[in-house]
Amino acid sequence: MEEKRKIIMDVDTGSDDAIALVMAMLDPSFELLGVMAVSGNLEVKLTTDNSIRVVECCGMQDKVKVYRGCDYPLASTLTPHLPQTDLLPIREGHNPYSFHPDRLPLPDPITKAGDRNAVSWLVDTLMVAEDGEITLIPVGPLTNIAAAMRIEDRIIPKIREIVLMGGSHIGGNESAAGEFNIWADPEAAEIVLQSGCKITMVPLDATEVAISTHEDAEKMRALDTPPARLCADMIDHRIADSDGDTTAINDALAVCAVLHPEVLKNVIHTTVHVDISRGFGYGATIVDLRSPGWRKEAPNCYFAMGADREYFFNYMYRVLKEDKERRAQ
Ligand code: RIB
Ligand code: CA
Repeated sequence: MEEKRKIIMDVDTGSDDAIALVMAMLDPSFELLGVMAVSGNLEVKLTTDNSIRVVECCGMQDKVKVYRGCDYPLASTLTPHLPQTDLLPIREGHNPYSFHPDRLPLPDPITKAGDRNAVSWLVDTLMVAEDGEITLIPVGPLTNIAAAMRIEDRIIPKIREIVLMGGSHIGGNESAAGEFNIWADPEAAEIVLQSGCKITMVPLDATEVAISTHEDAEKMRALDTPPARLCADMIDHRIADSDGDTTAINDALAVCAVLHPEVLKNVIHTTVHVDISRGFGYGATIVDLRSPGWRKEAPNCYFAMGADREYFFNYMYRVLKEDKERRAQ
């Protein structure tokens, strides 16, 4: 059997993060070494508790530990964003976005979070790893990973690759220019992008093609396992809270892309920066689409401009179906 891919998830759980965590835990091709929670969709106490809820929903609490990470971005909340938008993180009880419930519709967590801050745990874990051994899958703001790189840059060769959900070339969702994960902590994103790691960005350009529907949710729900029901409920919840009849469950596409990069379409290897100039473009992802001869910098990122919706759904359904079959054994 092929060796499992060692991964670490970095999440701001979050309704779509929940589905990404389910895939990371139930896909037997992964060895999930741990989960780091970060502030983003919600404050870090809530994203930590929600992540533990999902781990317990999958029955993985004896194998997977959730570590509480940074509660504030590196710099972006020190002065207001332009144009004025909600300052991060969203504090408990003030979540204007039911898109990401303060408490996922699961029993309250029983398991405690890890004994150290996620950044300390990440540094300790990477420093004893072999070079190129561990893949990071961040699907929230990049605060934890950027902080770890600043504390201990000797972790960088230990990272096999970073496959992140974030960024956009087609324009933002949190602001006209900024996709939320990058917009929430632009300085952190720029630190990670300039780290020299192999980076694949799974941006809105890809996730908003690989959308999910109520029909997808019904197929998942019919499997009738706790993880399948959770994924179905999150899809239905997000559609109900949107103004359409589909939803982009962004984060799980990054998990799928780690071992199935063919799910991503029109991937370009180019130079990507984040606008940290604190104007109206603050947090924008700047993708250099010029021909290589015109570019002045070496490429630092594989940027996916599209995705295969059917492939993505079939991946998620297969992971959930095989989990059901294992439970029946
Ligand atoms: O822009 C989408 C991203 O922002 C997703 O990771 C979602 O969970 C939110 O964090
Ligand atoms: Ca997220």
